[in-house]
Amino acid sequence: MALNLNALETSFDLVAPRGEELVEIFYARLFTAAPAVVPLFAGTDLSKQRTKLLVTLVLLRKSLRDLDALVPTLRELGRRHVGYGARPEHYAVVGDTLIGAMAEVAGDAWSDEYTRAWAEALSVVAEAMLSGTGSSPTAPAAVGVPSPATT
Ligand code: HEM
Repeated sequence: MALNLNALETSFDLVAPRGEELVEIFYARLFTAAPAVVPLFAGTDLSKQRTKLLVTLVLLRKSLRDLDALVPTLRELGRRHVGYGARPEHYAVVGDTLIGAMAEVAGDAWSDEYTRAWAEALSVVAEAMLSGTGSSPTAPAAVGVPSPATT
C-alpha cells in the first residue's frame, strides 16, 4: 500500500512547530483512553520521554520517503518495547491517540485525509516494530496465555 506522502508531510509540518504541546497532549490522551498502560510508564521520566517521542516523530517525518531504511531501527525499537511491557494490541490505541493529538493541535486545518494517511503510516510503523518480536498488531497477546497441553 503506497503511503500518502504529501498528506503525511503537510500535516506533520502543520503540527511540528507545536511539537512539545503535541506530545504533552498525546500522553494526557493516552492515559485517559487506555488507563491500563499507565503502570508501564510508572518508572518513566515523562518530560524526557516526551522529548524522545518527539525526536522519533521528527525522524519518521524525515524518513517517510524511504521507510525501508528505517525498518532496522524500528525493529530494535519494537524489541525494546517488549521489555517496556508494550503488547501488540496497544499499538492501535497509541496510533489512534497520536492522530487524535495531531488533529487537536492542528484544529480546523486537520482533515480526514490526514487521519487516513497517518492511520496507514502508523500501522506500517507498528508492523515494523513488531516484526522483530514475533508478534503482529492484531495477534492476541501471547504473554500470560497458557500453552495448550502437549501430552
Ligand atoms: C508508533 C509506535 C511507537 C513509537 C514510535 C514509540 C516510541 C518510543 C520511544 C522513542 C521511546 C524511548 C525509549 C527507546 O527508544 O527505547 C519509547 C519508550 C516507551 N514506550 Fe513507546 N513507542 C511506540 C509505541 C508504544 C506502545 C504501543 C506502548 C505501549 C503502551 C509504548 C510504551 C512505551 C514505554 C512504557 C516506554 C518506556 C519509557 C521508559 O524508558 O521508561 N510505546 N517509545
